Amino acid sequence: MTHFLDINKTDIADLKTMLSTAHDMKQARKGLPKATPDSDLPLKDHMVALIFEKPSTRTRVSFDVGVRQLGGQTMVLSGSEMQLGHGETVADTARVLSRYVDLIMIRTFEEATLLEMAEYADVPVINGLTNRSHPCQIMADILTYEEHRGSIEGKKVVWAGDGNNVCASFLHAAGKFGFDVTFTGPEVLNPEQVFVDEARKAGVAVEIERDPTKAVKNADLIVTDTWVSMHDAPSARERRHNLLRPYQVNDDLMKAAKDDALFMHCLPAHREEEVTNSVMDGPQSVIFDEAENRLHAQKAVMRWCLDK
Ligand code: CP
Ligand code: NVA
Repeated sequence: MTHFLDINKTDIADLKTMLSTAHDMKQARKGLPKATPDSDLPLKDHMVALIFEKPSTRTRVSFDVGVRQLGGQTMVLSGSEMQLGHGETVADTARVLSRYVDLIMIRTFEEATLLEMAEYADVPVINGLTNRSHPCQIMADILTYEEHRGSIEGKKVVWAGDGNNVCASFLHAAGKFGFDVTFTGPEVLNPEQVFVDEARKAGVAVEIERDPTKAVKNADLIVTDTWVSMHDAPSARERRHNLLRPYQVNDDLMKAAKDDALFMHCLPAHREEEVTNSVMDGPQSVIFDEAENRLHAQKAVMRWCLDK
C-alpha cells in the first residue's frame, strides 16, 4: 500500500517525481477555468474520503477540487459527525471505509491516529496534518520555492517562531532535498530533537540560533507560522505570544536576509502577530502561490498513491 504519511518516510526519487508531475499538471491547466477537468482523468470512478478532525480551508478545498479535476469524486467527513468521534476505533473505521472508497485523506490530532488508519486501511492514506507534521504543505512549498528560484538544494531556510508540525515537515524535507535549516525561536518551543538529529544525519546543516537577526543572515527563504496551533491549548496563548514576540517576521528581519530571500507562511496567518502586513503583502512574499500549489502538489501525491 502506498501511503503518503511523511516526507521523511518517502523516497526522494518519488518526491521529485511528484513535484515534477505537479509542475506539469499546473502548466497544462494554464488559462483553463478552474472547474475544468484535466485532459486525462486518472481518478475517474474513484471515490476519495476527506476526513477532518480539525478546521481547514486550504486542505479541504484543494483536495476536493483536485480530486474533481482528476475525474474522481469526494466525500468530506467531519470526524465529530462520524462514529470515529463517538468511540468507534480508528482501525474499524479504516477497515470499513476501505470497503467504500479508494483513497483516504485525514487531518487529525495524534500521529497515532494517522498511523493506525494507515495500518488497517486497504487503500492509501494521506496525511492532511497531524500535531506532528504537515507533509502536503511542504510539498507545495518546495514546488513554490523552485518555481521562483530554482532548485532548493543547498539553500538556507530559516524557520522563525514555534518549532511546530509545519517546521517538522521542513526538517523532514531538508534531509531529503538537501537544504539547510536554521531555527530561531525560544528554547521551550524548539523543534523535536529527533527531527533535528535525523536531518543532520542525512547530511544537512541544522542550526539553532536564538537571535533572529543573526539567524536570517544569508537566508534564501524565511518561513513562519501561527504562534498557537490548532492542537495547542487556548490557555497557552498569552505565554506563547510573550515568548514568540521577538521572532515576528517584519521588514527589519527580511532586510537582514539575502536581498532575494522569499517569505512563506502556510496560512492561516495572524497578521501583525507572527508576521507584519508589510511582509505578507510585500514583494518577497509567495504565500498565495503556496496556497495554490497545495492543489497541484496534492493531485500529484494522489496519483502517486494510486499509481495513476
Ligand atoms: N495550510 C493549511 O493547511 O491550511 P488549512 O488549515 O486551511 O487547511
Ligand atoms: N501549525 C498550524 C498549521 C495550520 C495549517 C496548526 O497545526 O494549527
